[in-house]
Parts: sequence; structure tokens; C-alpha cells
Amino acid sequence: MKPSTTQKLDIQKVERSRIDQVDFSNLTFGSTFSDHMFECDYKDGKWQNPTIKPYGPLSISPGAKVFHYGQAVFEGMKAYKDDNGKVWLFRPEQNFLRINKSSVRMAMPEFPRDIFFEALTTLVKMDKDWIKPGLGNSLYIRPFVMATQVGVGASPSTEYKFMILMSPAQAYYTGNVKVVIADHYSRSANGGVGAAKAAGNYGAQFFPTNLAREKGFQQVIWTDASNHQYLEEAGTMNVFFRVNDTLLTAPISDRILDGVTRKSLIALAKQDNIKVEERPVLVSEIVEAAENGTLKEIFGAGTAAVISPVSAFSYKDKTHELEMLEDSFANRFKKELLDIQYNRSEDPFDWRFEVV
Ligand code: COI
Repeated sequence: MKPSTTQKLDIQKVERSRIDQVDFSNLTFGSTFSDHMFECDYKDGKWQNPTIKPYGPLSISPGAKVFHYGQAVFEGMKAYKDDNGKVWLFRPEQNFLRINKSSVRMAMPEFPRDIFFEALTTLVKMDKDWIKPGLGNSLYIRPFVMATQVGVGASPSTEYKFMILMSPAQAYYTGNVKVVIADHYSRSANGGVGAAKAAGNYGAQFFPTNLAREKGFQQVIWTDASNHQYLEEAGTMNVFFRVNDTLLTAPISDRILDGVTRKSLIALAKQDNIKVEERPVLVSEIVEAAENGTLKEIFGAGTAAVISPVSAFSYKDKTHELEMLEDSFANRFKKELLDIQYNRSEDPFDWRFEVV
């Protein structure tokens, strides 16, 4: 049986908004939070006390399991304001399903659908002034779950906190992203947690990414943990390769995140009659394509940056530069996706979700 709750959402509003203190033209991604947040606790086998309250610090015991065993998962989604002031989410059902999938993998309880959507839409409505209109502006939404039971015994927590925070965001300019293809470190392994949006998946990337930065590259393209022969993800994103006019991307597996942007791009490409191959992509075939001139593009796809084109990659200390094409697939898909997200075009796939 899917979890549900009949409990009423408690709403505590801020006395005074902080919005006047925020410079919306100068935001650092994910570091300013809107007036309200959502909190719901799991205790005695059920989710209870769903509450929207002013954004602020928590009081959690240092003995809580999340601090010791990293039992935590999260999601990333965005709310957009169109030119008429209407507010939209993009495929929120996908994020709801995925946070529960991630939770199951981390031995955490699933969250009820009714309270997820009620909390999400109420929160977005309450803080809608934090979403500025204009392409690229959005409210980045961060649902997350953490283990709050006190105790350092290495076993799943019996208590959890589910929260939603919201952070105003501007267009995420990644500039020219240069990447290193991993030949030693790995992001995920067979049977591991790569397909879950587990907090530790991201923390574990910081060290190898720092090593890449020291060499003048911004991100790492992760390869399979067994032999480092197959290309899997780029930084915190899924990754696409365009060889001639065919798009290649790794298939979903227990090592790879089932990205919402990834699956949306695949649908857009198919609609545009662009050939997409979801199959294991060899490092050697991409190096060869770079050398014989058939590799046209590499780009990452994720919620935060939407699409992030790669201008160069390094493999075994040899750097391959990529021409940044005006009429790239990356630019084309980004425009098509943003037009749907900002209600500037038809929505043939029914991806938009109107909030207010
Ligand atoms: C995404 O873009 O999908 C992310 O998960 C980015 C986040 C780690 C900042």
C-alpha cells in the first residue's frame, strides 16, 4: 500500500518577508532561500505534522544518523513564471516518483503523494513573488529527506525529516565547460546507489572534481567503475554525445540517474526526427570520433544548468577541443525545453503543471 496521510497541513506565515533584502540580479546558485519551508516528520511508523513555516535553522541532535551514515536523499526541480505571471512546474510527478525510489534504495520510508503535492504547490504559491519572470529566472526547489533518529548504531533510522526549501535562481551560465574523462575514480558501481539521488553520491564527487580543477578542467565525465571503458555521466548531470547527427547517451541502469532533463531531451529529439541511441558509449569511440572530426558536441543535461555544452575533454592527459557550434543540438534543445517550461510554446507532451 502506498503511504498517505490524512493530516492537515499546518501553515505558519512569516511576519515580514525578507524579499526586499535580496538582490535578484546578483544571486549565487542555491544560497538564498525564500520566506517559507516545508517540514514533515516520520515517527512511530508514519509521517506526521506536515508544516509550512518560516525558513530558518533546525535543531537536530548531533547523534542523528544522517550525520554519521549519510542516510539522506534529495531532488532538484524548478518553478517558472511566464510573461503573464502564471507559475509552472515541470514534470513534478517525475521528481515525486524519483525521491521515493531513492528513499527505498536508502532503506528510508516513502513519502505520501497527497502531502507532497499539497506542500509543494502551497509553498510555491506562498512564495511566488520570489520567482522573477524572464527566461532563465526560476525558483530552484530542493525536497530532501534525512535520517533523524539519534544513535550511531549502523542500521536504518526509524525517524526521518522530509523538507522542501526553495531558492531563487538566475540563468545558470556554465561558460565553457572543460571536462576530464575519469580513468581512476568512479561515481557509482554495479548494484550501488548511482541511480538514487543520494546525498553521498554528490559529496563523493568533490575530491576527484577538485583534482580536475587543479588541472584547469571544471568537471569530470564519469566512466564505469569496472574498466573505465564506458561514458556514464558528466559532473552532476547526464551526458549526451553527438556523433555526426546521432545523439548517444548511456542507458538507465543502477549506476545512472534517470534524469528528468535527460528523458525530456530524448523525447524532444525523437519528435524532431533526430536519431537517439541509448546504449553503452565507449570512451574509445568518442576519442576516435573527436580525432576523425565526427564528434560534433558533448553536453550535460540536468535540472540546475538545463544543458551545459562541453568545449574540451581530456583523456589520458590528451586534450581534445570541440568547436562551439551556433546551430548546435544543445542550443536547439535548450530553447525548445525553456519554451515549454516558460509557457512560450505548445506543450505536446503535457509536461507543464500549472500552480497558480
Ligand atoms: C541537477 O542539475 O539535476 C542537479 O542535481 C544539480 C544539483 C546537484 C545542484
